[in-house]
Parts: sequence; structure tokens; C-alpha cells
Amino acid sequence: MFDQASSLREIMKNIEKEGVNKIIQPQFTQKIPTVIAVSGGKGGVGKTLTTANLGLCMARLGMRTLLIDGDFGLANLDVVLNLRPKYTLDDVLCGERHLKEIIMTGPEGVRIIPSSSGVMKVPELDKLQKLVLLDQIEALDEEFDVVIIDTPAGVSKNVQYWTTSAAEIIMVVTPEPTSLADCYASIKILAQVTSENSFKLIVNMAHNDQEAKRIYEKISTLADEYLQVRVEYLGFIPFDESVRASVRERVPYVQRYPFSLASQGLRDISRQIVTQSTVGQLKGTMQFFWRRMIAANNNEVFAYK
Ligand SMILES: Nc1ncnc2c1ncn2[C@@H]1O[C@H](COP(=O)(O)OP(=O)(O)OP(=O)(O)O)[C@@H](O)[C@H]1O
Ligand SMILES: [Mg+2]
Repeated sequence: MFDQASSLREIMKNIEKEGVNKIIQPQFTQKIPTVIAVSGGKGGVGKTLTTANLGLCMARLGMRTLLIDGDFGLANLDVVLNLRPKYTLDDVLCGERHLKEIIMTGPEGVRIIPSSSGVMKVPELDKLQKLVLLDQIEALDEEFDVVIIDTPAGVSKNVQYWTTSAAEIIMVVTPEPTSLADCYASIKILAQVTSENSFKLIVNMAHNDQEAKRIYEKISTLADEYLQVRVEYLGFIPFDESVRASVRERVPYVQRYPFSLASQGLRDISRQIVTQSTVGQLKGTMQFFWRRMIAANNNEVFAYK
């Protein structure tokens, strides 16, 4: 284990003794990246493909982009980007490697932190692992303008961890009623856990603009009325066969089929994100995470297994 792990252990001991508020004061650096978690509740709605292709769009807009595969155990960001990682987050979590050593370079210069796949039981991070990871991600702050985290389906502790550490949560939803129901249920839980009252929404696999807007209206009305949560519309990605073809070819669709409807949709979304971006504001990785934890006085995300 690295030296910093022992100092983090020390911090954890103090937190347990004194409470988080007394120990951790957020340190604000000059330049912090916008950290975006891509979630959605339901499996198979397009979180990973959206993360990968959004990463490329962001890079093309001149943003130094880092993608993190937060789907421990069932990772496939590397598959979509046709990478063969030698080391993964697993090696960082067990203290064998530093995060810097496992970062890979993908298309358009996008940098990627891969996770491992084929693990029988998805590991739930313990307190120390959560801190070590946040600490090492934070150390990369100066190198990136945007960090996009692909999260697993559901609202597991790991999903809660990633969404809490992010400044912006993008929910991906499809027109299927089950996706809509899961998306709403996830917003409800994540809003409670992270104290976030503003979410962003991408409608994926919609057949047209009207269908996408209808889905958005339903979710935002429900969230506003019952959860007092604001949901902002980022745009929609049409159902597009070229997306499926690109998965088979293992090339991101914005690269392989740049003029497809899906690529156009995602390009519009990326411009929208950059326009609304919180870069430079009081949002980032660890600082933001701590600030939110302190504000919410919420130790649930840090609970032991
Ligand atoms: N816009 C689209 N048009 C057509 N098919 C799509 C579109 N977006 C996603 N798909 C299909 O959905 C599949 C699942 O996408 P993806 O792996 O990104 O979902 P996911 O939400 O990350 O799934 P999981 O919850 O398992 O991690 C893709 O392999 C692709 O075939
Ligand atoms: Mg996925």
C-alpha cells in the first residue's frame, strides 16, 4: 500500500473520533475539472456508450477529458473503446498500482481509467478505498477539464459514491416505461443520498424529438412535484442502427459514423454541457465531495460494508 494510504487511515481515525466537520475543510484549488457521473438506474440504457462518445465529443471541443469506468466487476468502457488494459482500478484498490500508472490513452487523446470485468461478486468499496481513490483522482485535477464517470446500473453503494463525488449527475433514460420508472426511482434515492437537487437528463434511443421531450416532461414534472428536484434537459440521442454497428466494430460511433443521427444528437448535447459547464466553480472532485458530505452531514456513503 502507498504511503498516502497510511496518512488517509490517520484521517479516518480522526474522523471517527472528532466527526468529519472538524477534520476536513475543503481546500479550493485554482483549476478544478467538472466531474460528471453518468447514471440512469436501469441496465442497458446506454450509459457506457454515452460516456465513451461524450468523452470524444468533449475532447474535440478542446476539453482535456478523463473517463473513469466506475462499473467495477462488469466494466466495458475499455471494450467500447477497443482498449486492452494491463492494469485496472482493481490494482489501485488493492494498493498494487497508483492511479497514474493505469491511465490509458484512447481515441482523440481521451484518457481512460479502466476497471476490471468478469468478477463474480462486484466489490463494494470500503472507507479506505473510497478515500484513496478520491485522493488519487483529485491529484489529477490540474490535468483535466472534465472527468466523466460511467456508473453501473442501479443505485448500489458504489453508484452512490460516484454520484456523490460528481458535480453533475447526468441520467440516461430511454422511452421504455421501465427505464422511466427506474430513472425516477434513482433520482429519488440519489437526491436523498447526495443532497443534489439538480439533475441533467439525456433521452437515449428516442425515435424523435417529440418523444424525447415527452419523456423529459414526465420525469421533470414528477421530480419537481414530489421530490423538489430540478431536472434539466440536455437533449436526445436517436435510436440508430449505426450505434449497434459501432459496438460490433469496437469503434465509438462519433468516430466511426460521424454523420449518423446519434452522433449529431450527442454533439449537440456536448455543446450544451460545455455551455452550461460549471468549470472553475466550486465543484470538483474531493473538495466538492467533502463539501457535500459536510453540508449533508451524511456518513451513509462512507458506511462500512
Ligand atoms: N442510440 C442508440 N441506438 C441504438 N442502440 C443503442 C443506442 N444506445 C445504446 N444502444 C444499444 O444498447 C446497448 C447497451 O448500451 P450500453 O452498454 O451503453 O448500456 P449501459 O447502460 O451502459 O448498460 P449496463 O447497465 O449494462 O452498464 C448497446 O450495446 C447498443 O446495442
Ligand atoms: Mg455500462
